[in-house]
Amino acid sequence: MAKKMWAGRFQKATDTAVNDFNSSLPFDCRMYKQDIEGSIAHSTMLAEQGIISKEDAESIREGLLSILEDINSGNLTFDSDAEDIHMFIEEELTNRIGDAGKRLHTGRSRNDQVALDQRLYLVDECCDILELIDDLVNALISIAYDNLETYMPGYTHLQRAQPITYAHYLSAYIEMFLRDQERIEAAAVRANVSPLGSGALAGTTYPLNRARVADILGMSDVTGNSLDGVADRDFAIEFASAASIFMMHLSRLSEELILHSSQEFKFIELDDAYSTGSSMMPQKKNPDVAELTRGKTGRVYGDLVSLLVIMKGLPLTYNKDMQEVQESMFDVIDTIKGVLVPFTGMIRTMTINSERMEEAALGGFTNATDLADYLVRKGMPFRETHAVSGKLVHYCIENKTTLEKLDLKTLKEFSEFFEEDVYEAISLETCVNKRVIPGAPAPSAVKEYLDSLIVSE
Ligand code: ARG
Repeated sequence: MAKKMWAGRFQKATDTAVNDFNSSLPFDCRMYKQDIEGSIAHSTMLAEQGIISKEDAESIREGLLSILEDINSGNLTFDSDAEDIHMFIEEELTNRIGDAGKRLHTGRSRNDQVALDQRLYLVDECCDILELIDDLVNALISIAYDNLETYMPGYTHLQRAQPITYAHYLSAYIEMFLRDQERIEAAAVRANVSPLGSGALAGTTYPLNRARVADILGMSDVTGNSLDGVADRDFAIEFASAASIFMMHLSRLSEELILHSSQEFKFIELDDAYSTGSSMMPQKKNPDVAELTRGKTGRVYGDLVSLLVIMKGLPLTYNKDMQEVQESMFDVIDTIKGVLVPFTGMIRTMTINSERMEEAALGGFTNATDLADYLVRKGMPFRETHAVSGKLVHYCIENKTTLEKLDLKTLKEFSEFFEEDVYEAISLETCVNKRVIPGAPAPSAVKEYLDSLIVSE
């Protein structure tokens, strides 16, 4: 086993079991690019400040770039002996360039280094995730445009309530996902601040130029307190929390895709390429992608709770417990990225059964509110019209018919206010098309909403 960099103070080698238990290399190795990027920025600044020589900084840079290249090409694999990615890269650098490598860590601690790497990594991943959500939103927008006049029932209590359109329905999810993007982006913006210079906890006596390092790394600022810089992981928690809300929305959509693709609803059909079969029942076509997405939502919540609980009792500043933050944060990232590609594919390829949706909208007395509103327009007080409409619904249920099928004579038995124009007033088209205020389901209103998204992009 290689000698530890901190072995000076110790009389014994680390127990092998402790070494394995302690090592974060198996999971933090994924931050190698960010670690190298951070080290190049740090050493560049050290030379600019006259803390190390320009030659040393140059050989550190070349050495680190050669390590990056070798890891990328698979020529350098992660030695399981190293304690973490930071030690691994520093040891490898010193092996390659000698003494200059030993100067890299001047004015730096792994405590500020790991905080930096995690922030950089998270910001990079957030960019990918935001693009993947863009793809999903674009897929939904395009289906919405195609279904501006696809009438369906809107539900409360999972009971048919009022008619809407499929475009209007999908736009609700578009709104949710757009807010999710804002939240994830805000988390990334707040994470994009450099803790380097915090040292182990109390800064350093070297005249570091912290702002310069942040600038090289494309970070917007430096952290304002060295204790906070090494001790907090709220950026990871904020991201996991935005991610959990996003997954909650995705899970609700999944639940509805599962319902809507059932034989009972038949509103949509998922493409064969995005469904699975049963090993026993030949007729089955299962919505596994939607179900797994719903399931993985629980997993992301679990990660969020882990993060909150890991951090809640830790005294300032750094504690080894915080190493655990990485795995939960990585798991949120991997889960979201893993979900989004198949999910968007499933959305893009599904078939919309507009006839079934319209049939359902016609069948559930979803125009009962509009019938009451019609009587209001004719001069009756709303509370009375509500009762008349309710009685008519009851009558229809008893007689196995629907409101729009009743003749005028029957309607007049319930209220003198009914006239021939009632049929037009309670047709599905009228019920939807008259709801033209912003945010409402009329095709014109939804189109305007969708157009506004394209323009604002
Ligand atoms: N692998 C460690 C982590 O992820 C790096 C920081 C180690 N710092 C220390 N004081 N032991 O937290």
